[in-house]
Amino acid sequence: MSHQTLWGGRFKEGLAEIALAFSTSIALDGRLYREDIAGSVAHVEMLGATGIITPAEAATIREALLEIEGEIASGEFVPAGEDVHLAIEGRLIGKIGPLGGKLHTARSRNDQVALDERLYLRTALRELNDRIAALQGVLVAKAGEYADVVMPGYTHMQRAQPILLAHHLLAYVAMLGRDAGRLDDAARRMNLSPLGAAAFAGTSFPIDRAMVAGALGFDGIVGNSIDAVSDRDYIIETAAACGIIMMHLSRMAEEYVLWATKEFGFLSIGDAFATGSSIMPQKKNPDMAELVRGRTGRVYGALVNLLTMMKGLPLAYNRDMQEDKGAMFEAIDTTLGCLEIFAHLLESTSFNRDRMESEALADLSTATELADYLVRRGLPFRDAHAVAGRLVGHCVENGIGFGDLDLAGIREFSPAFDQDVFDYLLPRASVARKRSAGSTSPAEVERQIAGWREHLAKRNR
Ligand code: ARG
Repeated sequence: MSHQTLWGGRFKEGLAEIALAFSTSIALDGRLYREDIAGSVAHVEMLGATGIITPAEAATIREALLEIEGEIASGEFVPAGEDVHLAIEGRLIGKIGPLGGKLHTARSRNDQVALDERLYLRTALRELNDRIAALQGVLVAKAGEYADVVMPGYTHMQRAQPILLAHHLLAYVAMLGRDAGRLDDAARRMNLSPLGAAAFAGTSFPIDRAMVAGALGFDGIVGNSIDAVSDRDYIIETAAACGIIMMHLSRMAEEYVLWATKEFGFLSIGDAFATGSSIMPQKKNPDMAELVRGRTGRVYGALVNLLTMMKGLPLAYNRDMQEDKGAMFEAIDTTLGCLEIFAHLLESTSFNRDRMESEALADLSTATELADYLVRRGLPFRDAHAVAGRLVGHCVENGIGFGDLDLAGIREFSPAFDQDVFDYLLPRASVARKRSAGSTSPAEVERQIAGWREHLAKRNR
């Protein structure tokens, strides 16, 4: 169906080939054919139910639309031309003749495209949340598997205090939990039907917007018809939430790459998720993590693209807005792919308990425990901190660890030290001594693991 056939009388000439090639969005919005047809089916059923067209006409159009969906799915019909909406409508008219032209009564592509996007996003947000939960599941399982492993914890990338590996992994689980919450928020705000706004001013036909909204599983309708076709904040919110997810994944990826180095040696990647080098036979590269880190920019780019595309647009619809689809798919496809691969990557990973524990032992990161010990003996924290600091300096100068000191040696720094101080110097003892809620103590970490297991089990029920 050519451009001017659908347009009717206004145009004497068809769209120039070069203009069509420049302006077509079919390569992107062709993906939305199911949503487009679902929207058209709900719309035509409403047109029939309200008597705007006859029920028999509505039924014929509906059947043809469902056939077209099958044709596209099987590849028998390949949508082409300006966009998916015109392609499907053209096919409809091609199949059932002028009656097909009644489908677009009381509708515009402006409300149609906004509807298709919302339907698509509803599914996409659900998929994103499923993949977040799957990744959380792997993290929680690893936390459980390695629940007793002590490792050095870092601030400024300097060894700071011993922690449980599980506690570290659960920090990412918590971040991902908030990410899921952001997607839920976006889904809730978005789940309203724009259909019936028509071009933007509404329609003089007695349509039933609520009926269409209900049939499509929306919670209601977008209340202002101009707003319904003018904003893309629902895509922007999703892209922003994806950007935050990617920021979290990228931090995890960065750490993963570090931990896989010989220098850290904290983990080894499963062979199926590592790559070799074409020249250096000994290498095992963490490419999956690097690519997650590297693809983060795509999602940020999509968000900035969308914000910039919208910022200067007067109401209502402007063709600029067609550019939203590329950014929307880029943000969602990238984030889905990265969540998925990260779950597989982690699943394949084994953490090196011995290395983590021996590194935790080798450093002076229980110095805070030493200071706390003296505080319990009555020293003000600042004085205790200074004593511990002098002890650290002594160890560094002599290239020894706390474990190399004997009681006489340690008493030279403060007479408040007793034999039991040595119970405080082991990383495991330091971890076990933590008392505060949310801390790295085994009991608190167990509580977190149990809480997340319950949350994920409830979610997957
Ligand atoms: N392909 C268009 C888009 O994605 C559909 C809406 C076109 N509306 C219009 N008034 N030209 O934005």
